[in-house]
Amino acid sequence: MQNSSDVVVVGAGIVGLSIAWRASQCGLSVTVIDPSPAEGASRAAAGMLAATSELTYQETDLLALNLASMRRWPGFVTDLEEATGHRLGYSTSPTLVVGADAADRATLADLAEFQAKLGLSPSRLPISELRQREPLIGPAITSAWQIDADHHVDPRRVTTALRAALCQAGARIVTDRVLRVICSSDRSSVRAVATAAGQTVHADRVVLAAGLGTGRISGIGDAVSFPIRAVHGEILRLRAPASMPAFLAGTVRASVHSRPVYLVPRDNGEIVIGATSREDENEGVAAGGVYQLLRDAQVVAPAVGELELTESLARARPSTPDNRPLLGTSANLPEGLVVAAGFFRHGILLTPVASDLVAAGLCDAQLTAEPGLDPSAAEPRSRDAAIDLTPFDPGRFGHPSLETDLEPATMPGAQHVHPSHG
Ligand code: GLY
Repeated sequence: MQNSSDVVVVGAGIVGLSIAWRASQCGLSVTVIDPSPAEGASRAAAGMLAATSELTYQETDLLALNLASMRRWPGFVTDLEEATGHRLGYSTSPTLVVGADAADRATLADLAEFQAKLGLSPSRLPISELRQREPLIGPAITSAWQIDADHHVDPRRVTTALRAALCQAGARIVTDRVLRVICSSDRSSVRAVATAAGQTVHADRVVLAAGLGTGRISGIGDAVSFPIRAVHGEILRLRAPASMPAFLAGTVRASVHSRPVYLVPRDNGEIVIGATSREDENEGVAAGGVYQLLRDAQVVAPAVGELELTESLARARPSTPDNRPLLGTSANLPEGLVVAAGFFRHGILLTPVASDLVAAGLCDAQLTAEPGLDPSAAEPRSRDAAIDLTPFDPGRFGHPSLETDLEPATMPGAQHVHPSHG
């Protein structure tokens, strides 16, 4: 392995690949390292860009970042499609949020009121109109809301396109596992990473974007930890027979007897169904999760029972104790270490803003070191003064062994929150 780069990105999920692509666009040499590129949470994700319909009561401090990323998705798609000729399955058809019983109706109405108070625009959809728009919606569905602002994309196509873009840009994707970050002797700055295959790759900027694996990388020092936990979910892929008319026109998210389920149609006839959440040790597909998804999806659209089940998969959503991502640099971390991890339910949605912000920081550092470079690739994306990254400071969690009576100071705002709707 070539043993030095301007930047090492640890993790080749959608976020890591996007950071690497944006960084390579401003002339940086980039090495991406991952034991299974694009096989983690990005492979399972349905690809909903759902800043409104995935808002929960406990996560309002994430809303501005989510909305900033929603605004960047069209430009991200155009850039990547133009760079590679790949189509990303990006669709701006509205998302429908539907409910089955009276409790679901009340829950969705309360949530819509909360969303509206925050300046978002859910609009009530009469049931007659819902049935005209989506004839396959079942009779047990009794309430509906339309969210024009929520869209979807195909994450598998995005990661395939990103790998092609990186290849074109001369960046390397190495299949290996980073075990450790190597710092200067005074531990003030990053120097390299060490891998399971015994390689040392030198770089003075290292981006940790390894999802769940981020918390397992050693060498960041004793004061800080990245306590990323796994929130597993099942995800199913189904295919409509050729004889069936278009299955759904857009994403349908539902509350069925207080359980969440979502159905995301692709333009190739595939339907992705998901929403289960469990924090157990089982990394495999839980039979109960598959049963729950298929049962509830058939309440939403009874014809789900006629589709061919082509894939069932389980993956972990990487989450933090306060459900906010770890994003950017931190005064508590060595210079040159950047984190983009713990995106929980919002990894696909947050990809454009996370990659722009992180890459702008990497490119700005390079511009300072080499003033002759053309800054045009990095500059426009670095000027988003409205984005306050303080709540996402990746150094906000102290090391568990140091959290005694100092806990409130070392873990600002930390709380364990398990939103039920996903
Ligand atoms: N964002 C979709 C999920 O968390 O299931």
